[in-house]
Amino acid sequence: MHDTTALVDIAARMPKAELHLHLEGTLEPEMLLDLARRNAVPVRFSTADEVRQAYEFTGLQSFLDLYYEGIGVMRTAQDFHDLTAAYLRRASADGVRHIEPFFDPQAHTRRGVPFDDVVGGIVSALREGERELGITWRLVMCFLRDLPAIDAFETLGQALPYRDVITAVGLDSSEIGNPPEKFEGVFSLARAEGFQTVSHAGEEGDAGHVRRTLDTLHVSRIDHGVSSMTDPALVERLVAEGIPLTICPLSNVKLGGFASVREHPLREMLDAGIVATLNSDDPAYFGGYLLDNYRAAIEELGLGRDHLHTLARNSFEASFLTAAEKDARLAEVDAFFAQEC
Ligand code: HPA
Ligand code: ZN
Repeated sequence: MHDTTALVDIAARMPKAELHLHLEGTLEPEMLLDLARRNAVPVRFSTADEVRQAYEFTGLQSFLDLYYEGIGVMRTAQDFHDLTAAYLRRASADGVRHIEPFFDPQAHTRRGVPFDDVVGGIVSALREGERELGITWRLVMCFLRDLPAIDAFETLGQALPYRDVITAVGLDSSEIGNPPEKFEGVFSLARAEGFQTVSHAGEEGDAGHVRRTLDTLHVSRIDHGVSSMTDPALVERLVAEGIPLTICPLSNVKLGGFASVREHPLREMLDAGIVATLNSDDPAYFGGYLLDNYRAAIEELGLGRDHLHTLARNSFEASFLTAAEKDARLAEVDAFFAQEC
């Protein structure tokens, strides 16, 4: 038997990946204010505390309104580099070995920031992180689902010269009113162009959204998908087809999906055999980075050592690493737990 402190220590040291993380959602208030000054962008906040006081969300949209407001201070390749580098330092401190972060190019190109500056800044930091911290990566470009599908096609076109650094496309922003069918064409083209695909679904939408996302967008994993648990046939399908869910408990609580982590279905998901992974989503806004999510799940859901072993394995199983790379990571995870009695 391990007490919760010992389990959090295991979670900190075990090899693991983070697969659901919006780089723009790592913008801490201090950096927001620094970038606003550096770029002479007027903001309505004068202190970090004032920014944090605005973190009162009534649902996804109220969060997104603040998220896009914060994004307005990012202007240059150096800004995207610094944002990414700060996240990498946090991830490294939490013992993260591999990341597949999202970025939202349309939130920047629509403000006149060149696509190349966004990708260039992010990738330069990811390369440094790999060299200096040993954190490997695959980058995922999300389309904003509240914008017209034609804009997503244009963004896909901009990404074609960057296929060596952008592995997958995803879909985020406002789920309600923006069904997966809207993006069937652009996801089909993205697959034909060699991109992997993921999509947010079942965060505020019901289990039907998850099902339709699988049927129309043919994604390899679902981001969130928490509402799947209300539909036993869907759970059976996720297990049978090995479709991973990237779960973010602190995010779900902060946006009102659950009253507390105690109510979150992560443990039932793992016990049902779903390839569930644990992630932080927008850690600057939702009260914690990856290890904070592990701590909450251990303390409030009573996750044990075997759950941690499964979550570590799932984080690599669900990744876009090659089969050989996955095998090597899974062997590392198993070796870690073998000597961790
Ligand atoms: N959900 C949907 N879209 C998002 C999120 C999220 O949590 N964060 C950034 N874009
Ligand atoms: Zn997300």
